[in-house]
Amino acid sequence: MSVKKIQIFDTTLRDGEQVPGCKLNKEEKLIIAKQLELLGVDVIEAGFPISSPGDFEAVKAIAAQTKEATVCGLSRAVEQDIRTAADALVGARRPRIHTGIGTSDSHIQYKLRTTQEKVIERAIAAVKLAKSFVEDVEFYAEDAGRTDNEFLARVCEAAIKAGATVLNIPDTTGYCLPSDYGAKIKYLYENVKGVEKVRLSTHCHNDLGLATANSIAGAINGALQIECTINGVGERAGNTALEEVVMIMRQHPHLGIDTGINTKLLSATSALVSDMMRMPVQPNKAIVGSNAFSHSSGIHQDGVIKHRETYEIIDPRDVGVSDSSIVLTARSGRAALAYRLQKIGYDFDKFALDKAYASFLQLADRKKEVVDEDLHQLVEQANLVSA
Ligand code: KIV
Ligand code: ZN
Repeated sequence: MSVKKIQIFDTTLRDGEQVPGCKLNKEEKLIIAKQLELLGVDVIEAGFPISSPGDFEAVKAIAAQTKEATVCGLSRAVEQDIRTAADALVGARRPRIHTGIGTSDSHIQYKLRTTQEKVIERAIAAVKLAKSFVEDVEFYAEDAGRTDNEFLARVCEAAIKAGATVLNIPDTTGYCLPSDYGAKIKYLYENVKGVEKVRLSTHCHNDLGLATANSIAGAINGALQIECTINGVGERAGNTALEEVVMIMRQHPHLGIDTGINTKLLSATSALVSDMMRMPVQPNKAIVGSNAFSHSSGIHQDGVIKHRETYEIIDPRDVGVSDSSIVLTARSGRAALAYRLQKIGYDFDKFALDKAYASFLQLADRKKEVVDEDLHQLVEQANLVSA
């Protein structure tokens, strides 16, 4: 089966950085951009150049220093935004301007206070202006998730005619169900003239916890680019998490879609972004949470010690984690205790292990987690002799 390559568009430095408290300075953005390039993302959305002089300078610096990835700058469908994005991207080897406008009834009526026809006119003018500066122009139809498909198709067609190379279909409010979002992408492929000349892109928010599922539904239905952030950082409940979509495609080869991401760098990249944004990763976060490869209940520990794949679908080394961990708590069994004792140099016969286990349970009921130091003490206090 041939495998289709999906482009990964990372927007950690733009949509991710919009989060209160996560602001990055130019130097921090540059460090993250370098790591994103090592990770193998296809596009780095470096910022929103008109938003502040600092962001303009950051996009400019990333544009100048990025070797392989496309560097993208955001703009609204506003002349000065587009000109400023173009200025910031002048030094890029592969520049892309990302421009667009709201297309849902709610955005048109309440935010833009205009009409559908005027939205199409502004979309065309924005894409044409962006195209006068760079070849690669991505158009976003903001709130496409809640936009009527027929109107969305008209906007997309107009953007293609004006020269767009990528069409971004954002579920800005995280409203869609995977089946609806997938159907929307399929509808656009089937109803937009010229769609075969461009790349459709997903851009999903996580308000209902569906961002990853929606992005995958989009990819299954033909989208050729996924927009996402490291650790899923982003406005409100966040964006699609890069590490999740990448590992879903890798763990399900029958989907016939994959990325060029070096998955062994996922864990380090997650830690870097979390540190720089001062945004902790929840311990149970898929792929990169501190508990993603740790086992604490006796039944699971026994299984993993006998054969890792009984309770793990991903080899931790594939995402840059050195090993699975067996955490000792009051829910752990003898197998886990024996395993951890062996790791620190004690090999007990059945009698000694039973004795150690009884002391261990008493300690574990008092402590949340029993660590190596506790085990050494326990062995000493119970006068246990290793075989
Ligand atoms: O969520 C959204 O619609 C966006 C656009 C600006 C692309 O972030
Ligand atoms: Zn967004």
